[in-house]
Amino acid sequence: MGASRNVVSLSSFIFGAYILLSASTVNCNKDHLRGLQSIKWAPASTPTMKQAVAEYEDWIENVRMKHELKQKLADKPGMIQPDLTLDFPGMKQYTDWESVVTPSTYIVVDQNGIGDFISLSDAINSIPKNRYRQYRITIQLNAGVYREKVTIERTRPFITLQGLGQPTIVWNDTNFHSGNHTFDSATFGVAGNFFLARYITFQNTAPPPPPGAIGMQAVALRVTSDYAAFHDCTIIGNQDSLYDHNGRHFYKDTFIQGSIDFIFGNGLSMFYNCELNVMPTQWGAVTAQKRQNATDNTGFSFLNCRITGAGRVYLGRAWGPFSRVVYSFTWMSDVVYAPGWFDWGLPDRQLSVYYGQYRCSGPGANETGRVMWSRELTNWEAAPFLSLNFVGGEDWIPQYLKPLV
Ligand SMILES: *[C@@H]1O[C@H](CO)[C@@H](O)[C@H](O)[C@H]1NC(C)=O
Ligand SMILES: *[C@@H]1O[C@H](CO)[C@@H](O)[C@H](O)[C@H]1NC(C)=O
Ligand SMILES: *[C@@H]1O[C@H](CO)[C@@H](O)[C@H](O)[C@H]1NC(C)=O
Ligand SMILES: *[C@@H]1O[C@H](CO)[C@@H](O)[C@H](O)[C@H]1NC(C)=O
Repeated sequence: MGASRNVVSLSSFIFGAYILLSASTVNCNKDHLRGLQSIKWAPASTPTMKQAVAEYEDWIENVRMKHELKQKLADKPGMIQPDLTLDFPGMKQYTDWESVVTPSTYIVVDQNGIGDFISLSDAINSIPKNRYRQYRITIQLNAGVYREKVTIERTRPFITLQGLGQPTIVWNDTNFHSGNHTFDSATFGVAGNFFLARYITFQNTAPPPPPGAIGMQAVALRVTSDYAAFHDCTIIGNQDSLYDHNGRHFYKDTFIQGSIDFIFGNGLSMFYNCELNVMPTQWGAVTAQKRQNATDNTGFSFLNCRITGAGRVYLGRAWGPFSRVVYSFTWMSDVVYAPGWFDWGLPDRQLSVYYGQYRCSGPGANETGRVMWSRELTNWEAAPFLSLNFVGGEDWIPQYLKPLV
């Protein structure tokens, strides 16, 4: 797959940088390490190619030195270096991507100070913006509760966030506390393309809103990236937990909890083998998909999922007039309200939404009481929702994440 050439080119690149800096003395003590942690990178919003390369080389060297120091702290607990070479194999066809993990592209965040950074935001902000060489940067987040509001801007693509011991990233903003912007309430918002997260808990702890309250949307995770994948993650909030804002996304083996519209937005997303867990609520909805136009290619496909929890929810509400949601091979508990779907109080939307089920099971899947404007799909209708091609995923989803279907 051409990887060997990449390894050679990257290692000679790093080796070159290593020669350059091996003259500088490396003091093996913690104070020196702390000093490195405080290095700030100048923002480069529109760098020239030359600047971008230089900046990236500096950054690589900086991280390399940290790792070298860390290695010498021999009495500290060791770091696990997982094999990440299977990540995003199809990336080359999109951009200058080389899937090589080296100490120079691997940052460790640890609250007890045995990593490169203590704060996840600091680690992210240390990565140069607009990197010309689009190497994947892996951030290993060690176990702990990180009370941080984290943003990964569009200028920082190709980041993998890898938890060790299921760390939690938690904050508690609401729409109201974020200048009336649901978008800004997110505990963790990511817009950098080709983002990958695994073994991470994203949480928003803002309390459940009283009935009829406005401005209480409290997003745990917002995904604006194109091509983003999440697996073995947990997404927890009380309302509007997952803002699947824009772009193509794939969620696998992920637990998503909330009450009202807790998976919402205008993304094109496939959820495979996920648990959708309803917080006790008098009324709510699993989804509020916002497709705006018959020509828009967005929508949610839930495949092989489970709807669990307590209370009473719709499968979806028509936030957008062309809202599109399909559940296939999904087990539904009796938490699902018999009518299934709500038109957002706008009956016109009954004519334009696309809401279906396909071979679902469980007490909540009974279609007897369903609204007339949803239906059990035929094999032919369901087919596009059952394939990774729904999100163009054959090309960009890592091989090991692809369902064996
Ligand atoms: C978030 O938590 C802090 C500290 O407990 C609290 O003061 C603040 O009001 C909370 N914010 C929201 C929006 O709930
Ligand atoms: C948010 O909306 C409320 C209610 O409409 C308003 O009173 C408040 O001034 C708004 N806040 C901001 C920052 O715009
Ligand atoms: C849908 O998109 C098309 C093409 O961009 C545009 O011409 C049309 O006005 C849009 N329709 C609606 C209802 O927004
Ligand atoms: C579906 O619900 C109807 C009405 O409550 C009931 O008669 C029927 O037996 C149910 N079907 C299944 C498969 O449980």
